[in-house]
Amino acid sequence: MPKNTSGLILGIESSCDETAAAVVRDGREVLSNVVASQMEMHALYGGVVPELASREHLRNIVPVVREALRQAGVRAEELAAVAVTSGPGLAGALLVGISFAKAYAFGLGRPLIAVNHLEGHIHAVLMQRKTVGAPRLDSETWDWTSEETTKPMSQTRDMGHPTPTDHPLLALVVSGGHTHLYLARWNGLAWSYRNVGRTVDDAAGEAYDKVAKLLGLGYPGGPWIDRLSSFGNPKAVPFRFAGINRGTTEAPSFDFSFSGIKTAVLRYVQTHGMHDAIERRRAALSRIPNPDLDTIQALCDAEALDLIASFQGAVVGNLLRQTLAAAAFYHASGIVVSGGVAANRELRRRFAEEAAARGLDVQFPAPALSTDNAAMIAAAAWPRLLAGDFADGTLNASPQLRLGSAPVG
Ligand code: KG4
Ligand code: ZN
Repeated sequence: MPKNTSGLILGIESSCDETAAAVVRDGREVLSNVVASQMEMHALYGGVVPELASREHLRNIVPVVREALRQAGVRAEELAAVAVTSGPGLAGALLVGISFAKAYAFGLGRPLIAVNHLEGHIHAVLMQRKTVGAPRLDSETWDWTSEETTKPMSQTRDMGHPTPTDHPLLALVVSGGHTHLYLARWNGLAWSYRNVGRTVDDAAGEAYDKVAKLLGLGYPGGPWIDRLSSFGNPKAVPFRFAGINRGTTEAPSFDFSFSGIKTAVLRYVQTHGMHDAIERRRAALSRIPNPDLDTIQALCDAEALDLIASFQGAVVGNLLRQTLAAAAFYHASGIVVSGGVAANRELRRRFAEEAAARGLDVQFPAPALSTDNAAMIAAAAWPRLLAGDFADGTLNASPQLRLGSAPVG
């Protein structure tokens, strides 16, 4: 296979409702990051419709990849590898990206790299940390075409990664499909992960979306609840979370549950006679194609705004408590928060404040890298390119793919 030392990886992501392609150099320099969102189409149905998602990915994949290369100013022959999300996600949606990536990599004669979507989210933050990026590849120090270089590159040169340490990073991945806590360790060659917490029912983003729908707001609900919360009193409705821990004293599991708060919001709506106002809001919004914040706010009375702010305050508080408890228990060296809900402004503010109070470093992805994108996939593929950890033609979609060692309990 002809090798290429440009350090340029084409990332492809199609696990849910975004068709995305990006070109990233050396695992950290984003040359392009193109996302074709299907959100407006799925909004008509109040959630992602898998069959429609696959059809849209098929329609979008070629133009999105072409645009990513164009914006990066890179020719396909210059790519060193093609990386693609292999799971978790919707089977039909994943298959579109995987089939395309396989054919593209094969046609170019470049390695194919399979990436776990959850690891991608974590790398959306890691790629921004100076310590994690490896130096640029150049043929003077490393020659892939040489007969000698059969060893993985990581054994032949300094990669500029952090020195292995006993203190792991704690990663909270919080999105529409996932709410997981991972310990992430760099062992000098690769990252490894251990799942130390997860939701036992709904993901946090799913709770945002369901509560928004329940209150007559559009899909996806997270961004709307985020913005409307500033106008309500977060202490107006006291929501409580039951503590969940399926682990042992030696290895506790810092779990989450978000289906209870959704039911509590529903009960509040019923007992406070909010139904008619919600239906009026729903009907009004269905007539306005792209409502702005002022329009939506005008359709929400004080009681609705207080309920929205209280829901958000409780969810963010719960994410924060569990994350800080896990960080303290596992002596984490720092916290990274990623996934769609990491775009939330109150979450960022409270995590930054509370972590600083404990002398802990907390980092978030740039907003454009919080939600699904392909730059994070290309970034996560970088250590695998260095290690020669490639997929072959048998790569298939893994809708239930897990990251790292299994959680306790
Ligand atoms: O990571 P992502 O794009 O897709 C998944 O892998 O699920 O996350 C989408 C989720 C949706 O549930 C959306 O409502 C939520 O992230 N989200 C937010 C915000 N922006 C997106 N939730 C709260 N606040 C936000 N600003
Ligand atoms: Zn995601």
